[in-house]
Amino acid sequence: MKEKAILAYSGGLDTSVCIKWLIEEYGVDVIAVAGDLGQDHDGLEAVKEKAIKSGALDCLVVDMRQTFAEEYLSCALAANAMYENKYPLVSALSRPLISKHLVDAAHRFGARYIAHGCTGKGNDQVRFEASILMLDPSLEIISPVREWDLGSREAEMAWAAAHGIEVPTTQASPYSIDDNLWGRAIECGVLEDPWAEPPSDIYTMTVDPACAPDAPTYVEIAFESGVPVALDGTPLPLLDIIGTLNGIAGANGYGRIDMIENRLVGVKSRECYEVPAALVLINAHKALEDMCLERSVLHYKLGIEQSWAEQVYNGLWFSPLKEALDAFIADTQQCVTGTVRVKLYKGSCTVVGRKSAYSLYDHGLATYDASDQFDHAAAKGFIDLHALPCKVWAQNRIAMNARMDQFTAVDETVCQFADGESDVVRAAEVAMYQEQAMEV
Ligand code: ARG
Repeated sequence: MKEKAILAYSGGLDTSVCIKWLIEEYGVDVIAVAGDLGQDHDGLEAVKEKAIKSGALDCLVVDMRQTFAEEYLSCALAANAMYENKYPLVSALSRPLISKHLVDAAHRFGARYIAHGCTGKGNDQVRFEASILMLDPSLEIISPVREWDLGSREAEMAWAAAHGIEVPTTQASPYSIDDNLWGRAIECGVLEDPWAEPPSDIYTMTVDPACAPDAPTYVEIAFESGVPVALDGTPLPLLDIIGTLNGIAGANGYGRIDMIENRLVGVKSRECYEVPAALVLINAHKALEDMCLERSVLHYKLGIEQSWAEQVYNGLWFSPLKEALDAFIADTQQCVTGTVRVKLYKGSCTVVGRKSAYSLYDHGLATYDASDQFDHAAAKGFIDLHALPCKVWAQNRIAMNARMDQFTAVDETVCQFADGESDVVRAAEVAMYQEQAMEV
C-alpha cells in the first residue's frame, strides 16, 4: 500500500502543483486539508474540487473560524500581541491551528508525511514545521516548494500544464497575500521597494482614510475577563464581533500598517497589513486594562506581551514557554471586565470612554477639586525616601568632580610605566590614580 501525505491546501497554483509533485516524487497518496479561517475565498467546495482534480485522494474542508476566534485570537488579544509593537500576528496565529488539523488528519488517515506549500525564505514554513514537530514528533515533513526547482512562476505554470493541472488564466497578482479573520498580509511586487508608497489597490478591507465618512462612528465594546462579548450592548460571539468590527473600522479607513519587519530567518522585509478589527480590539482591551490592572501587574505584563508575540511569531505556539506566558496572562484577565467606547474617524481609532466594576480608578484620589482625598502631606516623606539612593549618588558625584577639578590646571606629563612603555597622561589623572591606590 502507498504511504500517505497530508497537504495544507489553499487552492492556489503552488499547493495544486504540490499535490501532483508529491504523487510523482514521493509516490504517495495525497489528502488535502483546506481550512476556513475567515479568509476571502470563492467557496471551499470549489477548492475541494480543485484538489481532487489535481490528483488528491480526498480533500477535507474544515471550518476553523470559531476555534480560531475563541482559542487563538482571544489569547492574542489578552496578550495585546503585536510583533515588534506593530504587527498583530495575522498569519502567525493561523499556522498552529492549521497544523493541528493536519496532524489530526495524519492520525485519521494513518499518514506518514505532512506537506506544506511555503517557500524556504519565510516564517510560515517554520511555524508549520515547528507546530507539527511539537504535536507529533514521529511525523515526517515534506516541503515541496523548498525542494523543487520550479524557480519562476512561468516554470511552475509550464510544469502544471504539462501535468494536467488547471493553470490560472487571469493575470497573476504581483502580491503574495495571506488573510484570515484577524486581517490581511500583503507583500512582494512594488512593495519590495521600501521607498515606494503602497498602491491603493493592495487594500481590500479598508477604504482610503481620505475617502472615509465625514462623521465619526462610535462603538461600545463590552469585555468579560478580557474577552469581547458584546457590541453596542448586543451580545455576540467573538467571531461575529471581529467580523462586524472589520466592517465598521475598515469603512472608516482604520487599520492599515506599512512596516519593515524582521523575519525569523534573518531577513528584513517590507510588509503591508490591513488589520481593522484587531487594532480596534487591542486598543480597547488595553484601555480597559489600564483601568483594571494594578500598576505593577500592568507594567510587568508589557514584557510578557512582547515575549508572547515573539514566541508566536517564531512558530512556538505549542512551546512550554508560550504555555507558561498564557497562564500568567490568563490570571491577569480575571478582572478585565467592562465597557470601552471608541471613536472611529478617517483612519483613526480613539478610545473616548471606559467603565468597569473592577475599576481601580478612584475619583477621590485623582481629583483636583474640593473632594480630594489624596494625602498631600504624605508626599513629602515619600519623595525623600523614594529619591534617597539617587540623592546619595548625586552627592558623591559632586564631591568627585570637585576633587578632579583641583587637578585640571596641571599640565600633561610623560608617564613612564614599569614595562618600559610611556604615554602622555594628564597629570590630574596620575594624581588621582595615586590617591586612589593609597586609599585601597
Ligand atoms: N510577514 C508576515 C508573517 O510572517 C506575513 C506572512 C504572510 N504570508 C504570505 N504568504 N504572504 O507573519
